[in-house]
Amino acid sequence: MQDDTGAVENRIISDIAAAATLSALEDVRVAALGKKGEVSALLKTLGGMDAEERQRLGPLFNQLKIRITEALQSRRDSLEAEELTRRLASETLDMTLPVDTDPQFEGRIHPVSQTMEELAVIFASMGFDVAEGPDIESGFYNFTALNIPDAHPARQMHDTFYLTAEEEGEALLLRTHTSPVQVRTMEAGARADGEEDGPPFRFIAPGRTYRCDSDQTHTPMFHQIEGLVIDKTTHMGHLKHTLEAFLTAFFEVDNVAIRFRPSYFPFTEPSMEVDIRCHRDGGKLIVGAGDDWMEIGGSGMVNPHVLRHAGIDADVYQGFAFGMGIDRLAMLKYGMPDLRAFFSADLRWLKHYGFLPIDVPGLAGGLSNKTLAVK
Ligand code: PHE
Repeated sequence: MQDDTGAVENRIISDIAAAATLSALEDVRVAALGKKGEVSALLKTLGGMDAEERQRLGPLFNQLKIRITEALQSRRDSLEAEELTRRLASETLDMTLPVDTDPQFEGRIHPVSQTMEELAVIFASMGFDVAEGPDIESGFYNFTALNIPDAHPARQMHDTFYLTAEEEGEALLLRTHTSPVQVRTMEAGARADGEEDGPPFRFIAPGRTYRCDSDQTHTPMFHQIEGLVIDKTTHMGHLKHTLEAFLTAFFEVDNVAIRFRPSYFPFTEPSMEVDIRCHRDGGKLIVGAGDDWMEIGGSGMVNPHVLRHAGIDADVYQGFAFGMGIDRLAMLKYGMPDLRAFFSADLRWLKHYGFLPIDVPGLAGGLSNKTLAVK
């Protein structure tokens, strides 16, 4: 009997080794360990044996079953590994091959992204850098450094989202405007020509801003673009020309008329709101000419307190700042009536108003010479 199991074992083990596929291996398993398998049959014979014989052969048969099971398992592992290697070799994907649908006609660039690109292109042509700041701000940068002290009513005007996290004993917040980037960038001493720290400064800072406000023309998150120019002789004439040159290029019209309306911002003195001339033709708004005015942002000469907070000598340097709503600019230029649709992630809206990735940011004809002649 002992010899028998040795022969049975050798035969089954060599069958296992010879099985070239998983299904051939399964056949070997069934023939050995299946209900009617050879080893199962041996095990069944134990029932008819006397106690002594069973004690001698029981462990032997069980060992046989265990070794066969192990041999099957290890053969299965190596067949599966071979199979995987074969599939990996035959199913390789060449990621560089062109796909069936032309991707350039699939996705769309969001109008806000497109508009931001356009802003960067136009202001870059006038020598502006692009600066960035964090969305999560401290009360110091969002308010105090901008000449809005603790008890100032302007703090309440801003409908601020406060976070529970604090920094230096003061609650952090979501920035209510891009103006904190003025202070941060001046402080960091980034200057237009990169030669040494300090003024002159000439940069824009586009980005997300947040206010606890929501209706047809307000969303809790929106976008602003800040502009800042600081030098020794920068004056309001420069501000007006910069805005006119920008708006002419942005709206792709020959001329725009803007008007300054006296206003108040703690961080500028004097402060002006900026209106652009327009007229309404039925439901459509036409920018550039007409008998109506439309507000597009705030501006002013930077308050010396702000310069001092950023470590700039306010007796030597002066300049202007402006802030505009990017979403508002995009709505005006591309005729999108409802601001809320901007952020509702509606694919149909995006297909309609979005831009193809191959569209170069607006301004196909480039900037006019007039626009470029900003001194
Ligand atoms: N930060 C102001 C706002 O959000 C806009 C502004 C920017 C006004 C720069 C003046 C100068 O309303």
